[in-house]
Amino acid sequence: MKADLLIRNANEIITADRASYRPKTGKYLQDLGILKKSDVAIKNGRIVDVGFFKWEAEEVIDATNKIVLPGFVDCHTHLVFAGSRSFEYEAKTAGSSYAGQHKTGGILYTVEQTRKASLDELVKKGLKDLDVMLRHGTTTVEIKSGYGLDEENELKILRVIKELQSNHPMTIMPTFLGAHTVPQEYKNDREGYVDLVKRIIPKIRRERLAEYCDVFCDKLGFTYKESKDILQAAKKEGLDLKIHAEQTGHNYGARLAAKLKAVSADHLDYATEKDVTGMIESKIIGVLLPGVTYHLTELIPGHKKLKKFLPAKIRGMIEQGLPVALATDYNPGSCNTQSMKTVMETAARLYRMSYAEIINASTINAAHALKMAHEIGSIEIGKKADLVVYDCEEHGMLIDNFGVNLVDTVIKDGKIVYKK
Ligand code: NIG
Ligand code: FE
Repeated sequence: MKADLLIRNANEIITADRASYRPKTGKYLQDLGILKKSDVAIKNGRIVDVGFFKWEAEEVIDATNKIVLPGFVDCHTHLVFAGSRSFEYEAKTAGSSYAGQHKTGGILYTVEQTRKASLDELVKKGLKDLDVMLRHGTTTVEIKSGYGLDEENELKILRVIKELQSNHPMTIMPTFLGAHTVPQEYKNDREGYVDLVKRIIPKIRRERLAEYCDVFCDKLGFTYKESKDILQAAKKEGLDLKIHAEQTGHNYGARLAAKLKAVSADHLDYATEKDVTGMIESKIIGVLLPGVTYHLTELIPGHKKLKKFLPAKIRGMIEQGLPVALATDYNPGSCNTQSMKTVMETAARLYRMSYAEIINASTINAAHALKMAHEIGSIEIGKKADLVVYDCEEHGMLIDNFGVNLVDTVIKDGKIVYKK
């Protein structure tokens, strides 16, 4: 039988299979579906066979002593922005806090820079970031708006995302995050800003500029009531929901996610057992962002602000049965990395997650967090051929060997888009 492309004799194929209909929890989360010394055959952009068989192909990748994984699904990013906040970061390492910086700089600083940038400039920078992601093994990414905070600039960012979709091989899922924080000009009129966000939603829908609506439910963003108001308006317009929940404190975002049947609640550093129970009942994915915990240097494990030692909290969530995913949260403030591998390394070190938990959370469960698990997130017959070959002999090396990119070849929709 003849395929277009064949990956031959991989030392391990991490299929992350048998979870296309529901995310992995419990014992399934501990299972990576590993095939040893196996092949993957690809035709017309899809996986047509996995295992040990006799396919032929025009193009063959010899994966001897290498491993193959599904492309990572980075299900939470703020990739479209201008400028850098590296000056703030140095102050952070010297002790200044994220909340303190938020008052004069933080998100608002990036809003200022992003408003000044043209669509073309933002597209150029976005394409560069997507290249970096692809070279680090990510093949699908969610991108939020949220550094415009007025109609013109929020729409500009969503149009940038549309341009990126047409000009880059990466699969991109767009999210409207007009409710990222209250902009300066509405400082004394929060209600007015919430109304503005609600008025933008139908316009976005008309142009199909976003599939999801997200809200930063936090002391630095929006109250429970404001968040509910915005998310309900978005739901009425047919958008799916996400929410930044329990990031810098406990603000009931996870309960709101459960009430409104959001697809995911993200961050969750301050989530309680009761929040997690509600999320499980409402089938909500918990998107964990350990890169933020690490980068902000605030919620280090056991920090006095947290009621419970952080790794114990994460283990508790997983043992309660919460389906968890991992993402970068790539942005210029709270987590400045495009690399899922870096986040996975951090998940092991800060959250004490196992290799299998980490890889499943970065592939198939992350695909569920975007409602795309029928198409991507695992190596199974019929799925899109989004695959990455790594230059190491077993999957543990991806996490054990830190700070080093092990990507050898990236295959997107059946085509080789990057080769080391
Ligand atoms: O997910 N918390 C809200 N938004 C981002 C950070 C944005 C920024 O600092 O620029 C986050 O952490
Ligand atoms: Fe975020």
